[in-house]
Formats: sequence, structure tokens, C-alpha cells
Amino acid sequence: MDELTRIPVAGDHPYDVLVGRDLFGALPTLIEGAERAAVLYAPPLKEQADAIAELLGARGVRALPIEVPDAEAGKTAEVAARCWEQLGAAGFTRTDVVVGVGGGAVTDLAGFVAACWLRGVRWVPVSTSLLGMVDAAVGGKTGINTAAGKNLVGAFHPPAGVLCDLALLDTLPAPELVAGLAEVVKCGFIADPVILELLEAHPLGPVYRDRGVLRELVERAVRVKADVVSSDLRESGLREILNYGHTLGHAIEKVEGYRWRHGHAVSVGLVYAAALARCAGRLDPLTAGRHRAVLALLGLPTSYRADAWPELLAAMRVDKKARGSRLRFVVLDGLGRPSILDGPDDALLRAAYQEVSGA
Ligand code: GLY
Repeated sequence: MDELTRIPVAGDHPYDVLVGRDLFGALPTLIEGAERAAVLYAPPLKEQADAIAELLGARGVRALPIEVPDAEAGKTAEVAARCWEQLGAAGFTRTDVVVGVGGGAVTDLAGFVAACWLRGVRWVPVSTSLLGMVDAAVGGKTGINTAAGKNLVGAFHPPAGVLCDLALLDTLPAPELVAGLAEVVKCGFIADPVILELLEAHPLGPVYRDRGVLRELVERAVRVKADVVSSDLRESGLREILNYGHTLGHAIEKVEGYRWRHGHAVSVGLVYAAALARCAGRLDPLTAGRHRAVLALLGLPTSYRADAWPELLAAMRVDKKARGSRLRFVVLDGLGRPSILDGPDDALLRAAYQEVSGA
């Protein structure tokens, strides 16, 4: 294990996010007292799951590897039920642990399986994607998708600890790494402008190759999220700022039938939220323009189809963050100064969309 950074998350159930390389060795101390550990993983992560199972076995913990379908296909009630059957067959008790090895979908599922088993057992996400490290794995949101929509069934269930093993990013395909950067950019605008300076000074190629920069970006983004969820686990106030760029982003994902990468949709959503704040007279043009510039520099999309506006508006009105039919947007009043734009009128919404669609 090389140098390890511990980022604390406070609250009723405090835990640390560990950032570093080759971190699997830290797992046994996070799950002390467990006799059994279910290791949920998607097929591409079998090698890593096997390594974790072997390491736990050597420490006297009985590992139960459970393969689940990759990505969103694994976040279903049927898959969760299959996991619970296996926990039951293995005699899982309150002191046992669920480990989720994978991207955001697998860790969301693992957390949900743990949240419901015996009304809540410990769990540890071992995040293997950039998006998972800086978003899904931190903050205790767990859940599955149902016919009614994505993430509508779930629980707040903070983990016992989070492993962000940067060595796992060495083999992450470049497009996935780039998509994950959209959430990092979001953290830069809502709370930590140094992130933006780092990205502007080290555009894509060097960021991808230079571990030092990538590590600093992960640590800074995790710190932003850790600080927010430390004071508002249940999204009763401050946590809403993590939704910056997501209102239009979620609508694009829905209109695209979830075939667009989440990070790509959030990227367009960030440009839109900045345009909205500028059109509303709340954000200066330079900071608004910086959104498009930094996202484009990273190779992320910054525009979307003009003719999609009616569908996007309809999708935003049923977003789970909307209040009744009134739309709410996280916007910026300045760099690092997020606030809420509540119930903007249709003309403002449309004018901001024209900047995204180029119409
Ligand atoms: N992904 C936003 C949140 O965790 O609140």
C-alpha cells in the first residue's frame, strides 16, 4: 500500500473514505468482527473480487463471492432478492458484511442489499470507476431501479468505510474516465475552484496519465462530497447542491433511454444550469462561460438537440427533485456559491436552453 489519504465523513455513523493505490489490504480492519463477507461483483471485476475473497480468507473471514449483472442491469429487485437468498443460505448474521466491488451501479446494489438484510448490516464499497469514487460510493445513498424509475427504491445506509483504489483506474477505459470527470467539474464549481484550475492546467491527456493530478482531483472531489453529506445525509437541505447540473442531465438520460453516459448528460446539464443562472442575472458571464470551456477542454459534450426541448421539459417536471409541477434548479450566485432557483418561468427556461442547443 502506498501513501494513504483518509477523508472523514461525519454524522451518526462516521466513516473514512480511503484514497490511495493497492488498498485491498485495508479491508480487513474496516470489517473487524465479521465472520462472513459477501463480495458482490460484476463479471469484468471477477479478478479483483477473487483477490479480495482470497485476502479475506487468509484473515479468517469466510468470503462469499456473488456475481451480479453489470451496470444498471444489476440494480433490480430480482438481483437483490437473489443476493438475499444467498446471504440466508450462508447464515449471514448482524456482524457480517457486504462488500461491493464495481462502479456506481454495483455499489448502489451492494449497499441496498446490506441496508435491508436484518434491517441493516455493515457494507464497504470498493469503487472501481472514477464516477463511483467521487459520487456513488460516498454518502450512503443505496438503491435499485424499478419500472417506475431509476433509484426510486432505496435507503440511506452509510458504509463502514469506502475504498477508492486509484490503481483500478489505470485500466479504466478513457471514455469512462472522461465521463467521470463531469462530476469532478461539478464539485469544482459548487465548492472547490482549485479543481477547475487543475483541469485547466492539465487537460485530458496529462490528467489521464499523471497519477498525481488524478489523485488530487479524486481527493478534492471526495472532500467536497464528504463535507456536504457530513452535515446533511438525508438531503434535507445542503445535499441538494450535489444535484448541480443534474436536473437537465437526468432529463437527457431519460430522453436518450439511458443510453447516454451519466457524465455526458451532467456535462450538458452543467452548461444549462450556468446559462440559467446567467439569464436570471445571478451569475456573471465569465463564470458561466467557464463551464462550457472547461467541459469542452476535457472532451465532454456541451450541447444537445434543439427539438428535444418539449420532451426535456416534461421529463424535468417529473424529476424526483421537483416540488409538485414547480421546477427547482441548483444554480450558482458566483463561483463556489450554490443556491436554489425555485419555479423559474418558461421563458427563462427556454432562453437558457437556446444557449445549450445553439437554436
Ligand atoms: N449523487 C448525489 C448525492 O449523492 O446526493
